[in-house]
Amino acid sequence: MSKFSKMGLVKVSSFLVVILFLINGASSTTFTVVNQCNYTVWPGLLSGAGTAPLSTTGFSLNPSESRVISIPASWSGRIWGRTLCNQNATTGKFTCVTGDCGSSQIECSGAGANPPATLAEFTLNGSDNLDFFDVSLVDGYNVPMMVVPRGGANGVGKCNATGCAADLNGVCPAQLKVTVDAVAVACKSACEAFGTPEYCCSGAFGTPDKCKPSEYSAFFKKACPTAYSYAYDDGTSLFTCSGADYIITFCPPPR
Ligand SMILES: *[C@@H]1O[C@H](CO)[C@@H](O)[C@H](O)[C@H]1NC(C)=O
Ligand SMILES: *[C@@H]1O[C@H](CO)[C@@H](O)[C@H](O)[C@H]1NC(C)=O
Ligand SMILES: *[C@@H]1O[C@H](CO)[C@@H](O)[C@H](O)[C@H]1NC(C)=O
Ligand SMILES: *[C@@H]1O[C@H](CO)[C@@H](O)[C@H](O)[C@H]1NC(C)=O
Repeated sequence: MSKFSKMGLVKVSSFLVVILFLINGASSTTFTVVNQCNYTVWPGLLSGAGTAPLSTTGFSLNPSESRVISIPASWSGRIWGRTLCNQNATTGKFTCVTGDCGSSQIECSGAGANPPATLAEFTLNGSDNLDFFDVSLVDGYNVPMMVVPRGGANGVGKCNATGCAADLNGVCPAQLKVTVDAVAVACKSACEAFGTPEYCCSGAFGTPDKCKPSEYSAFFKKACPTAYSYAYDDGTSLFTCSGADYIITFCPPPR
């Protein structure tokens, strides 16, 4: 365990994380979530079935703000950004224009993102003790997001930064574009927009040899070559590290 992750663990004043840590006795990972957008982002976190819960499932991050989260050993799940969120003054309900999880609160409490949303997906210390991670546009796109591993060793594959630094909302194809008051706020996947097996890699198209990239997935792939652009885009979109911490940045500066 790195000094960095020890510090992160001490800082997180969550009993739960500390207790899980003691029970597991294994080293934990930290996520440093950074908002470099010039607007507030509300990250949402969803733990996979059967993995330990996190100390938070949603919070707000102002521009330039960051937050360190201690992640239990062998955690799997996803993190995404919600945008244009508001609490209704009358009903008290918290909702977001993009990435909303439907919990009516800042914490997502076990609920996932409404597409379209850029997703970072993790399976920590999975097969061969490797962390598997990716950034996916399979459920569409709403905010630029990069995942950068720190201090990890290479897996069999690649321990590299991945994500989608580009802002795709404005340049999104017309049939996929989501606008609110004529402002582009998100970009749907072709699967969500058209719902056909061909775009969703379902039914007769449910295998890698049958489901091929489309002109729509090609739009995402061209803009963001390391992110998943459709369900079977594994070859260029899945990354592995061993024993890394991760920096997850919304609106990273263009590279
Ligand atoms: C945020 O940045 C965008 C693009 O650079 C700019 O158009 C917009 O006015 C900025 N918004 C704020 C609130 O600073
Ligand atoms: C708050 O919720 C009420 C009831 O659903 C709705 O009529 C109203 O438009 C909402 N206000 C805002 C600012 O969204
Ligand atoms: C990983 O990143 C390095 C440095 O940016 C780059 O040279 C290399 O091609 C990348 N490897 C893969 C498989 O993407
Ligand atoms: C991964 O899990 C194994 C047990 O399955 C454990 O021995 C090992 O220390 C873990 N590695 C990391 C980096 O957490």
